[in-house]
Amino acid sequence: MIFGRVKPLDAILRTAEKKSLHRSLGALQLTLLGVGAIIGTGIFVLTSEAAQKAGPGMMISFVIAGAVCAVAALCYSELASMLPVSGSAYTYSYAVMGEMLAWLVGWALVLEYAVAASAVSVGWSGYFVGQLRGWFGIELPTELIAGPFAGGVINLPAVFIALLITGLLIRGTTESARVNAVLVAIKVTALTVFIVLAIPVMKMENFEPFTPMGWAGHNGAGVIGAAASIFFAYVGFDAVSTAAEETKNPQRNVPIGLIGSLAICTVFYMLVAAGAIGSPLGSQPVTSAMGEWLAPGSAGLSARCTELAALGHEPLSCSKEALAHVLREIGYLNFGNLIGLAAFLALPSVILVMIYGQTRMFFVMSRDGLLPEKLSTVHPKWKTPHIITAITGIGVTLAAAFLPVGKLADIANAGTLAAFVAVAICVVVLRRREPNRHRPFRTPALWLVASATVIGCVGLYLSLPFEAQMVLPIWGGVGLLLYFAYGYRASHLGRGLVEVHETDADAPPPPQEVERPFNA
Ligand code: ALA
Repeated sequence: MIFGRVKPLDAILRTAEKKSLHRSLGALQLTLLGVGAIIGTGIFVLTSEAAQKAGPGMMISFVIAGAVCAVAALCYSELASMLPVSGSAYTYSYAVMGEMLAWLVGWALVLEYAVAASAVSVGWSGYFVGQLRGWFGIELPTELIAGPFAGGVINLPAVFIALLITGLLIRGTTESARVNAVLVAIKVTALTVFIVLAIPVMKMENFEPFTPMGWAGHNGAGVIGAAASIFFAYVGFDAVSTAAEETKNPQRNVPIGLIGSLAICTVFYMLVAAGAIGSPLGSQPVTSAMGEWLAPGSAGLSARCTELAALGHEPLSCSKEALAHVLREIGYLNFGNLIGLAAFLALPSVILVMIYGQTRMFFVMSRDGLLPEKLSTVHPKWKTPHIITAITGIGVTLAAAFLPVGKLADIANAGTLAAFVAVAICVVVLRRREPNRHRPFRTPALWLVASATVIGCVGLYLSLPFEAQMVLPIWGGVGLLLYFAYGYRASHLGRGLVEVHETDADAPPPPQEVERPFNA
């Protein structure tokens, strides 16, 4: 009986008890942890996609996406504090909804982590190319810096960074807390400088028309469509909820960390968006010579951008390094290049966190028997799950080589939204099923918050471009086939082995036992 394969909560909790982590993080550290995990390609690159979809109305898109994340975050926190083990939404689902759905959630999380890593690699590539151009005047041929959808052949800088990070992870590199703190400071300083320079020179007339594409236009256009895409800018906050086990007074500090980091990022994002909208570039969507709207990441838009570039215009929607481009257009050439440098330096850490998260997720799934155990073999010298890391890295690299950043981000969003829905359902089911179990953090106004999460996530999912929506069911179908071809038979739980071997001698250090890559 498939739905009957529920992993007993007590087995999971026994594992957590074995680890019994020291509770050391306070509200401020948690907030910084969140801000560090959140700020990345979304704001530095996808601002231009949001402009193409919504025009100045993208400011509202940032608020909508932030609000959906905030309610999802409150649901996450209850489960994260109750079940402080690796595997996140996959593990929660295994304990609440059973193996098959858990497998599907884990499978959807591949989209969140691996595809997001590809998206950030492509985002980084835009800034790398901009750095070469800005500081050294070097132009690389389009064929080598963009995939086929964006008018090129292969995105070599994205390939380079994805492989480099994979190599570092195979060698056992995790970002140290100190490096992370420096990178958070760089990102926050870059955004602050942008705001300080761009806001005072805003042209208010650029805010009109405010919603040129309406609220919910065709194929992802409009304010809600832009919210569905810019949702990517908030992905990563679950780093805070997974740190619940290491937090002092989690009931108070986890929501402060989650809501605090989301609120800080929302304010930053809105101010950055306002600065970009008010700049001489404006943020009105680019249209064809005939006045038709062009979808971000489409060949039509890249062809139009090439035409406009030949005429000496590079609208916001055409830029691959949105924030640097805006500052240069305002007249701050060097500050533009420096913001570019900040993104160039800081984005790789987001890729590292994402690939790391993916490999640990696969590791947990293979330890449960749902993926071949061979995959989680640990390298004798480097003590890392090198096989799974290499496979993940190759997948991330291939997607980054050929797909544009916006399409990748939309696909990652589809997977993440599905996982958030699963988490909201799990939290409600578990409250009903086991009302008396100890919960270090309880989601406030659960019914309201969980319903808002489900409605918000489904609404954003349905506002994604059609192709991105379709990836999820197709990916899920492939996942189901794999499950019945392999996992169903090989599952440890199915074979009666329920113990969770979190501290196996041959396991790579689980994230919580090493210096976590995203720890502040
Ligand atoms: N929120 C992260 C970013 O924008 C994934 O890069």
